[in-house]
Amino acid sequence: MKLADNKATLSFSNGKPSIELPVYSGNIGPDVIDIRKLYSQTGMFTYDPGFLSTAATQSAITYIDGDQGELLYRGYPIEQLAVNCDFLETCYLLLKGDLPNATEKKDFTELVTRHTMVNEQMQFFMRGFRRDAHPMAILTGLVGGMSAFYHDSTDINNPEHREISAIRLIAKLPTLVAMAYKYGIGQPYMYPQNDLSYAGNFLRMMFATPCEEYKVNPVIEKALDRIFILHADHEQNASTSTVRLCGSSGTNPFAAIAAGVACLWGPAHGGANEAALNMLYDIQKQGGVAKIGEFIKQVKDKNSNVKLMGFGHRVYKNYDPRAKLMQQTCNEVLTELGLEKDPLFALAKELEKIALEDEYFVSRKLYPNVDFYSGIVQRAIGIPVNLFTGIFALARTVGWIAQLNEMIGDPEYKIGRPRQLFTGAPRRDVPHISKR
Ligand code: CMC
Repeated sequence: MKLADNKATLSFSNGKPSIELPVYSGNIGPDVIDIRKLYSQTGMFTYDPGFLSTAATQSAITYIDGDQGELLYRGYPIEQLAVNCDFLETCYLLLKGDLPNATEKKDFTELVTRHTMVNEQMQFFMRGFRRDAHPMAILTGLVGGMSAFYHDSTDINNPEHREISAIRLIAKLPTLVAMAYKYGIGQPYMYPQNDLSYAGNFLRMMFATPCEEYKVNPVIEKALDRIFILHADHEQNASTSTVRLCGSSGTNPFAAIAAGVACLWGPAHGGANEAALNMLYDIQKQGGVAKIGEFIKQVKDKNSNVKLMGFGHRVYKNYDPRAKLMQQTCNEVLTELGLEKDPLFALAKELEKIALEDEYFVSRKLYPNVDFYSGIVQRAIGIPVNLFTGIFALARTVGWIAQLNEMIGDPEYKIGRPRQLFTGAPRRDVPHISKR
């Protein structure tokens, strides 16, 4: 970051002297006002719940222009990456800063592939869960539990430990997600088969059984790979900020990523794809397209607490570019599977059309986000609804790691420690129990 030509001046109406604050510019995007010395100079904090106006870090990984609906990984537009690269190339890009050449791609793919198997003890750990446990509960436990299995890569300050834990997490997440699924349905776990692609291997671990041959469908494989690319990183969102905050204490990478998994679970974040599909099911049950008007009315009613899931975004005030690619993928998958007339897809498209014309959504700049169509694609592939967020976690793991490693390597990195505006009781004495 570089100092901008101008400075910000903060003045007070109570006669306190004004202060000047430095302004920094990034390469693109808004400038930032540096408030690090604000407290020492004024005795005041800034107040910004939800980080609406706060850049908590500098970062060179992912850039979003929310007004234009643009998403860049290391400068490359998501539309180009989704068409020209596979997920492991995207992982390399996010982790290392640039796309691999052919040799680097081959070496990286081999490295990840060699680590796909998990410690055999993991399946006994899994047995402690109820069969109907939510896969995100299982994943939070298993990912955190990895720190108990890989003691040689838990020092976050050691670059070699960070490197090997990154590879292990990227390689093993598909295995763990598939295990969580198989456990829930009572089928035997399928070991990874390393001559398959990353997405192909995952499909096999999910849907094959030891009883018969499994052939990966290339259209589904490509669609899944694209889902992974679209979810790989998204700058300082809630789960990424959670990973950074958690990792800032020096905890091990597996624990920090487990914190990200837990945060992603929420319906306002990664859980939205599950919530969006459940919402479509509900509308369909109540009468389908004919009931959209009534549903939109509820969404617009402030007292109803009903949201149009898969719509709206803190940063995008335009169409989420990932949603466009996801809609295209949705078309491809449904055509391949002979589900072009899928009533949920038809319902989603109609809902989108009506919402995009409605003044409530237009004035608030609410557009479909990545989760609006991803549930329909995943459901068509055969992924159960409660595993959608697990797929998101699998794909986002690389982004979390890239961001965590960037933070640790940043000379300005400090333990994250927000402050507060205290509104509770001032000091008081504890009364005797008879007087309470
Ligand atoms: N349906 C109806 N109204 C909405 C929606 C929605 N999905 N999203 C925002 N609004 C309204 C909101 O009520 C508010 O209205 P008003 O100004 O009258 O009070 C206005 O739009 C601004 O919303 P906000 O809640 O201040 O926006 P936010 O930036 O705090 O929230 C969000 C962003 C994504 C949490 C929210 O849009 C939402 O809950 N969407 C549904 C859940 C969802 O699809 N989440 C996935 C996000 S993308 C995947 C990911 O990155 O995890």
